[in-house]
Amino acid sequence: MNPVKVCVIGVGRAGMVHATNLKNNVPGASLAAVVDADLELAEERARDLGVDLFFSDIYEALDRVEIDAICITTPTFTHAEIAIAAARAGAHILCEKPMALTLEEANDMIQAADEAGVKLQVGFMRRFDPAFIAAKERLDRGDIGRPMLIRSLTRGPGLPPRWACDPCTSNGMLAEVNSHDFDTIRWLAESEFERIYAEANTLKCFDLKEEFPDFYDNAIVSLRMKNGTLGMIEGSCPVGYGYDARAEVLGSEGVILVGELQDTAVVSCTKRTGLVASNFPGWRDRFREAYIAEARHFVECIIERKEPKVTGEDGKRALEGVLVANKSIQSGVPISLGGS
Ligand SMILES: NC(=O)c1ccc[n+]([C@@H]2O[C@H](COP(=O)([O-])OP(=O)(O)OC[C@H]3O[C@@H](n4cnc5c(N)ncnc54)[C@H](O)[C@@H]3O)[C@@H](O)[C@H]2O)c1
Repeated sequence: MNPVKVCVIGVGRAGMVHATNLKNNVPGASLAAVVDADLELAEERARDLGVDLFFSDIYEALDRVEIDAICITTPTFTHAEIAIAAARAGAHILCEKPMALTLEEANDMIQAADEAGVKLQVGFMRRFDPAFIAAKERLDRGDIGRPMLIRSLTRGPGLPPRWACDPCTSNGMLAEVNSHDFDTIRWLAESEFERIYAEANTLKCFDLKEEFPDFYDNAIVSLRMKNGTLGMIEGSCPVGYGYDARAEVLGSEGVILVGELQDTAVVSCTKRTGLVASNFPGWRDRFREAYIAEARHFVECIIERKEPKVTGEDGKRALEGVLVANKSIQSGVPISLGGS
């Protein structure tokens, strides 16, 4: 069987994670080409990856190479145009979170994929992480009864690229860092957001606040889901210790904790140092396996003609949560979401 030929669009931080996995760790896939608006970077990364073809935009790639699928790892504000172009060319789409900048863009992406009959999977890789999967399985088995309260936090060790610090091109930290938490709560609660209240502040990066008036580097979000489950999201970036992604589900009969600070089960102790353990330096380390499983799932869905576990609709609902939380930050009041 011919491999699924994938082209990675945007070979920055996330792009190189996906490109490397598609090249080395995804049976049934081949990395056909890379694209980056910065052609020199595209060439350098293509060389590093051992890929012959590189381009500076998606249109050229779609024109010149036979592509079955693309992986979108460009800045958020470019996702919609690229996804729609790919769908119209018949290419399946794995799109990094946040899916898009606006709900209109997300709707257009879903519609384009539906009309073309191509897969659209959104990059919520926590759903492929062994710890998060085990938690969901225990919840589904009823091990802790009914979920009552779900907390999810993400803290990043360093600032993301510049475009992601500007809320106009990224929707800010809740989108760039905490999209995952919005998805986690929807997924674990199996319900949609009903009401959202958020508070945010700039407590560290005062220079960025001066440059981008809507910037914030710390946020908390209170949520009420339609089925009554309560949720809480916490975000902070940058923090002074490493990458941190954890969740807790309090159920009617018990509690489930997901994730920990420590990256390996090794602790040393001396009188001089006390207990010494190591933590996750970054998201690539914490979710290494999940990114591979996510890409494998995408390719498997194409080969076996299955619907991805994380759909465009999931991407859109998480985005809606982020947008409403940002609105709540600006207005200072809780906001109810319409629709079903
Ligand atoms: N799932 C995760 O854990 C995770 C982690 C990091 C980033 N991301 C997401 O991945 C996406 C990219 O983030 P990043 O941190 O890798 O950004 P980045 O700035 O490091 O890389 C983006 C790359 O895209 C290129 N680019 C910009 N516009 C382009 C266009 N129109 N066509 C082709 N290339 C273009 C840039 O030159 C750059 O090299 C974002 O949506 C981000 O939220 C997800």
